[in-house]
Amino acid sequence: MNHSGPSELADDKAARIRDQFPVLRRNAYLNAGTYGPLPLAVGRAMAASLQRQVRRGRIGREAFREHEETAARVRTLAARLVGAVPEEMALTRQTTEGMNVTVLGLDWERGDRVLTTDQEHYGGLLPLANLRRRWGVEVDFIRTEDLLADPVGAVERAWTPRTKLLGFSHVSFRTGALLPAAALAAAVRRLGGLTLADGAQSVGAIPVDVAELGVDFYAFPGQKWLCGPEGTGLLYVRRERQPSLRPSLPGFAAVQEMAEDGDFLFKPGARRYEGGTFNLPTLEGLAAALKFFLEEAGAAWAFGRVAGWREAAAARLNALGARLLTPSPAAGLLSFQWEGRSPEDVVAALSRRRVLVRSINRPACVRVAAGYWNNEADLERLVEALQKP
Ligand SMILES: Cc1ncc(COP(=O)(O)O)c(C=O)c1O
Repeated sequence: MNHSGPSELADDKAARIRDQFPVLRRNAYLNAGTYGPLPLAVGRAMAASLQRQVRRGRIGREAFREHEETAARVRTLAARLVGAVPEEMALTRQTTEGMNVTVLGLDWERGDRVLTTDQEHYGGLLPLANLRRRWGVEVDFIRTEDLLADPVGAVERAWTPRTKLLGFSHVSFRTGALLPAAALAAAVRRLGGLTLADGAQSVGAIPVDVAELGVDFYAFPGQKWLCGPEGTGLLYVRRERQPSLRPSLPGFAAVQEMAEDGDFLFKPGARRYEGGTFNLPTLEGLAAALKFFLEEAGAAWAFGRVAGWREAAAARLNALGARLLTPSPAAGLLSFQWEGRSPEDVVAALSRRRVLVRSINRPACVRVAAGYWNNEADLERLVEALQKP
């Protein structure tokens, strides 16, 4: 007979899931925003794939079939995760690639403008800033505070007749601000523009439904909140936008037919945005990470854990006198300042106690990024380590 109550069952599950991450045995791992911890399943899938390549070889029908099937599995699982269909998902090698593929796939003329925020990561900002050098496209910035206070008004005020695109992080990697993506996408659509979201700090931390959000393009990585290998990512391209988004990396993976004279036919769907060969063991790792997230942890459970931990941490840090910079509502990140100590000092002191966080330079702060694998003991370790020299 089972006497355990719901919370004990929940704890059982947390313990079971934590067991799958060897790196958690020693570390309070609070930096999903850079790289998530790797579960055993990902390591096993990658190692087995590599062994197959070494023993069986990388060529031949079986090897090619594995490549095709794994890529299809990744697109399907990722589509399920973000509320898209597989034909709207393209494999990429990072968030950055997805951002660049989108920006370079649109048509630009000198004097066009793009809009973005003051808290973008280089991975999202550089593709836009690069437009200025290449085509004389101007970049306008909206303050995140203004976007949070009045999203529609802020976009309308900054929009010009030449503005074509709003590029923004769904969650700021600096302060953890969660932007109202649906309201922004709706406002931009009314103005006749397009929206490109950088989902590096959202997918795997909070529920993301691209259809509901109404964004046109959404790029995200595998290596952060999804605990996949580095060098992986996905780009969502809304089906209706595919006829007008040109493939920026055309290669054999993008075409279904290529004539001797160089004429070609792109593949249907978002596969036309994939250029050439992907690393198969890495793809197997991403497939295993997505499966682990969706089927072992479970998305709803994972999102609940992330939110619960962040709320508990915010309350504890607040009570200790930390200055929290993350506005509400938040996603997974929590940024704060600790009076009298530089963020770098705090990060170094925490790291000596194996509490893994990072610092941010603008605004200068410490950033905690706790995933579904973190527990109360990790929060206690953080709090205790913060109070020591
Ligand atoms: C908001 C944001 N965008 C983009 C990136 C870059 O990610 P990737 O290495 O997948 O291109 C990061 C990485 O930290 C990020 O936080």
